[in-house]
Amino acid sequence: MAESGNKMNEAWKDYLLGEARAAGKNAYAPYSGYHVGAAVVTEEGEIVTGCNVENASYGLTNCAERTAIFKAVSGGAKKIRAIAIAGPEGGSPAYPCGACRQVIAEFAESADMPIYISTGADSCEVYTLAELLPKGFVL
Ligand code: THU
Repeated sequence: MAESGNKMNEAWKDYLLGEARAAGKNAYAPYSGYHVGAAVVTEEGEIVTGCNVENASYGLTNCAERTAIFKAVSGGAKKIRAIAIAGPEGGSPAYPCGACRQVIAEFAESADMPIYISTGADSCEVYTLAELLPKGFVL
């Protein structure tokens, strides 16, 4: 796990995790029952949230992380500084899927951007993007 020596301080971390947990309440997940929320901080300091949105055609499902990032980018954001992700309380932690890791990399401010993964109502694991996506694809 990453040490907290990056630009995000502890207060931001807890606030962001709270926003992610709250966003999970809007999850549309009738097929998996696995509700996920995510919250990103943009370069400008704006917080944008998202949830997973499933579909009867399962492959069309959009994860919470990508919902939040696409909302931020479509609102004008260029880069994200941090992301928090929260799965259902008491469920297994929502480690981002491979597709979401690649999308996070596309908009990450830096390779040491923190990724906070909720592990309970008041706990989380912290990783850098480089830890979760070593040698990600770039053009
Ligand atoms: N899911 C997310 O939204 N984010 C993750 O980090 C893990 C998985 C969603 C996709 C699907 O709606 C449900 O969780 C079960 O895979």
